[in-house]
Amino acid sequence: MVEKDYLKQYLDRTPGSKRLFARAQKVMPGGVSHRFRFIPPYPFYVKKVGGSKIWDVDGYEYVDLWMGHFALILGHKPATVQEALKEVLEVGTHWGIVHEYEVQFAELIQQTVPCAEKIIFGVSGTEATMHAVRLARGFTKKRVILKVAGGWHGANNELMWAIRGPYEKPESMGVLPGIAPYTQPIIFNDLESTLETIHRVKEDLAAVIIEPIVGSGGLIPADREYLKMLRQETSKLGALLILDEIITGYRIALGGAQEVYGIKPDMVTMGKVSGGGANLGVIAGRGDIFSLCDATVKRPKGESVMVGGGTFSCSPLSMIVGYRVVTYLKNHAQEIYPRIGQLGKKLREGMAEAFNKNGIVAKTTGMGSLCGLYFPYDAKTVVKNPNQMNQLTDLEKVDYEFRIRMINHGVFVMHGGGAVSFAHTEEDIQRVIAATEEVAREMKKAVS
Ligand SMILES: Cc1ncc(COP(=O)(O)O)c(C=O)c1O
Repeated sequence: MVEKDYLKQYLDRTPGSKRLFARAQKVMPGGVSHRFRFIPPYPFYVKKVGGSKIWDVDGYEYVDLWMGHFALILGHKPATVQEALKEVLEVGTHWGIVHEYEVQFAELIQQTVPCAEKIIFGVSGTEATMHAVRLARGFTKKRVILKVAGGWHGANNELMWAIRGPYEKPESMGVLPGIAPYTQPIIFNDLESTLETIHRVKEDLAAVIIEPIVGSGGLIPADREYLKMLRQETSKLGALLILDEIITGYRIALGGAQEVYGIKPDMVTMGKVSGGGANLGVIAGRGDIFSLCDATVKRPKGESVMVGGGTFSCSPLSMIVGYRVVTYLKNHAQEIYPRIGQLGKKLREGMAEAFNKNGIVAKTTGMGSLCGLYFPYDAKTVVKNPNQMNQLTDLEKVDYEFRIRMINHGVFVMHGGGAVSFAHTEEDIQRVIAATEEVAREMKKAVS
């Protein structure tokens, strides 16, 4: 097989990464601990970061749009976090005993997130959604959780279902097929089929868990009517609505997507941005639901919900960094959200235009600071859910050819785009758009 031009360029630029990957493969399966970070033929290795940029071990600079899995809303190593870390150095990283930092952070979340009457901290998003589901089943005494087909809520067993097609097959060996009746898929933004599923499950519906902007399916925003319907139907049935705002929390607006959509869920899960770059999972929501895991109330076994555990939960590290970053977001919300939103819009429009003027149909998704990109097989296609993304678009082109070509041009993208941070400048966005144009020209040349 002839080596592809862009692949050859990538291999030529990255000998240091190649060497590191060879070492990594000897100690980690496939060379990575997070499978998403494997980029074929091997990922480039980062050596240094700052603001909107990252530098690899071979000395190349990149505009970063991945921003630590969308977590780094203030960019890499912002002054706020550097300051917070000085305090962490003073007090230590981990105590395992209660302290004021956790109280003040919970107070801040209560003030800023509309549905957050009560808050519990954990260490990851995966853990947060696992506990949210358990709380929902415990509170409603019902069994079925509906989740979006193609939606990713972390790797916990409860929600490891219907992530990649075919949706009726277990996602992974080791996940019991027996969870299928209790974790069922719905089609994002498809009112009719979702209503049908809700009415089929009906009395046994514990909760719908949904991202307002479905991330792993390509950063697709929910239609307002769709979320409104889910709110109404879950309320009618005595089921809960859990918004998974692990991507959108503190990113789309200070109060998250629930503020933007005007929808108050019963529970919300957050992580990413709220941790400010430290590891964090947050579950928050209605006080009556959280009373089921109130440690001060003695209940007979089987009448409370076990939430918690987590040696590192509420570590001063995550509480201080998260608190300082969210405080910064609160104090500068008027400046931050409009600015990253405008840059996000420029990115979405500019990247699509860069392709379209070169005769290649590419469309962008997202909202605010989030931007995804896809190549539909048919120019008329407008993708509304992950199922359509899987079936009607060239996913491999985005994840492989486009990404490698962008890397060669000094831009790191995920899902075809990524997340703008407050550290990104107008110039960064123009640089990404210019790189996209170069890539579009190369791709056009490659097919002609
Ligand atoms: C929407 C959503 N929920 C849950 C998770 C899991 O979070 P974590 O990776 O912190 O476990 C993710 C992570 O990508 C996510 O995007």
